[in-house]
Formats: sequence, structure tokens, C-alpha cells
Amino acid sequence: MNYNIAVIRGDGIGPEVVAEAIKVLQKIGSVYGHNFTFTDVLMGGIAYDQTGSPLPQETIEICKSSDSVLLGAVGGPKWDSLPGDKRPEAGLLGIRKALNLYANIRPAVLFPALKEASPLKEELVKNGINIYVVRELTGGIYFGERGRRTGTFGEEAYDTDCYGVEEIRRIAKVAFEAARKRNKKVTSIDKANVLENSRLWREVVHEVAKDYPDVTVSDMLVDNAAMQLVKNPAQFDVVLANNMFGDILSDEAAQITGSIGILPSSSRGDGTLGLYEPIHGSAPDIAGKNMANPIATILSVAMMLRDSFSLEAEAKAIETAVETVLNNGLRTADLGGENPISCSQMGDAIRDAIL
Ligand code: IPM
Ligand code: MG
Repeated sequence: MNYNIAVIRGDGIGPEVVAEAIKVLQKIGSVYGHNFTFTDVLMGGIAYDQTGSPLPQETIEICKSSDSVLLGAVGGPKWDSLPGDKRPEAGLLGIRKALNLYANIRPAVLFPALKEASPLKEELVKNGINIYVVRELTGGIYFGERGRRTGTFGEEAYDTDCYGVEEIRRIAKVAFEAARKRNKKVTSIDKANVLENSRLWREVVHEVAKDYPDVTVSDMLVDNAAMQLVKNPAQFDVVLANNMFGDILSDEAAQITGSIGILPSSSRGDGTLGLYEPIHGSAPDIAGKNMANPIATILSVAMMLRDSFSLEAEAKAIETAVETVLNNGLRTADLGGENPISCSQMGDAIRDAIL
């Protein structure tokens, strides 16, 4: 079978981690008899530098006609002073919207070999952490009306957080479907004590919950959720959140598993096309030094195989290979340890562990 993958290497450490993920995919291809075809497209700061736009139309077209999209990371200080719509991040938001990828899945799993890397006390992580964050990705304050105007305090800036019933319903369904295949528990995050759109969120989530009597649902205010994640992470199974709250809580969930450098993500819409990327950013401070951790991107490719291509055995093979190298004590710099290995050495080790 042939799979066409659009590749957005992006900025900072993006190209380094993507190169390792491609290495691993090629090995999967040769072991399992698949052919992966990669088409490089521009997005982010590099796209702005080369074309004047962080998301050229050609990139959108190629991504739309591909079977899936692999993304490294975008952004960096070089582009920080550009106007909002020219910034690398605008490319990322634009591609999510253009492909209607409204469901962002961020599994935060603690690898047994990395228990020591978790900043939490041993007693809190001894039973493991396995949180499945379902973040709404194409609505809310990220996409609401924004602007500047003059007000009582002089110049004002505003961003609008708005959600529609159908928008909430479709993401809630993703969370409940996922919970069904897991521990049947959804924690829905909101700020319903203050925000009207959170009150609507809560109403719709409970309406959707009626179709899933086998799944337990509870609401949690976002400030409490931030606290509960470090107090008792084992209580969470599926965490359902809007765009903004999901952005913040997923970084926190990532860090308690040891390093943001190991967590993958997928962004999906109604079809099988997905965008797969590490949840970490472009880390400009270590870019070009061959010291980034490629595991998050490699695990993102495993998600692509499972979720977009239904290649369960192949996905599992990658995850097992990652576990093997971690169990063997291999660590990139972010994971601590005495003798860190480089980004490409980690990629080689994972590739070689796929048999
Ligand atoms: C993420 C990132 C992005 C977001 C930024 C880079 C726009 O933080 O994917 O979590 O906020 O969605
Ligand atoms: Mg983020």
C-alpha cells in the first residue's frame, strides 16, 4: 500500500525531529511492506521568509490531497515582531482551520522507565499516568473576533471566546468515544462559574453524555484542574477541554510525565486525514545542535499509522521500540541522565529496535 504524507518540517528543531520520524517510518515501510511517499511543503517562519506568507496556498492544497500530514514545529524569536497574521503560529492555526481539524488528541503517558524524570513525588506516579487530552482545536478564543479600540483605559485589545452548540457537540463526542475504549471516564474542563460560553459547554457536554450511559462524566473548573493534575494525576482518564484550556493543561499534563519532548499529538476532523505533530514547540535555543528529543515526533508517526491508516501492528512496533530504547537507558538531554545521546542517535536506536 502507498501512503502520501505531506511533510512540514518548519522551524527550530522541527527539521531535526522530523528527519528522525521519517527514518523510523521508512524502516516500518521496509519491514511491513508499505511505501511512504513524502512531499515537503512550507509552513511557519521558513515559509514566511521564502514566500511572504506563513501558510502558502500550495501547502494547503498539497496537505488536503495527502493521506496525512507530518509536522515538526513552527516559530522562533526571529519572527516575534511580525504582525499576528504573518507570524509562524498563524500558519499553524491556518492549516488546522483549513483542514477542519477540530479534534486535537494529546495522550500524556508516563513511561515506566521515565518515572524518575517526572517532577512529581514517587507516590503520585507509582500507579502510572495515562491521560488522554481531547482539545477542541478550531474554535474558541483562538478564532473569535479580536481587535483593538479605544476604551476607558486608553487603547484596548480584545479577543472573543465563542462556541456553538454543534461545535461543542462534535468534540464532546470524540471524548466520549475515546473514553469508551479506555477507562470510561470523561472530565470536562470549563470555567462555568464565570464564563457564559463555559455554561453552554457544560450543558452540551451533559446532553451528549446521555448517549453514553456507560461513561462517567464530571465537570471540573479549569483552575482546579490545573491543581488536580499535580495533586492526583491518576484520577484522570479522558480530559475534554476547549482550545485555550486544552492548550494550557496539555503542557502541564506533558510535563508531569517527565518531558514535553516525548508527547505526540494528532489533530483530526471528520475524515481519515490527520495532522500529526509533537506537542512541544520549535525550541530555538537548541535548534541545529542535534540535541532535541525526537521521541514525540516518532510517537506522532505511530499515532498516524494507527489513527489515519489503521495500521495497528505497525504503530505498536514503533511504541515498543521507543519503550525498548528507554528501558535500555538511552536518554536525550531533556530526559536527564549522565550521558545524553543526540537526536539522530535516538532516532537510529529506535529505528534499529524495530525488528
Ligand atoms: C500548541 C501550541 C500552539 C497552540 C501555538 C504554537 C499556536 O502551543 O499546539 O499547543 O497554542 O495551539
Ligand atoms: Mg501549546
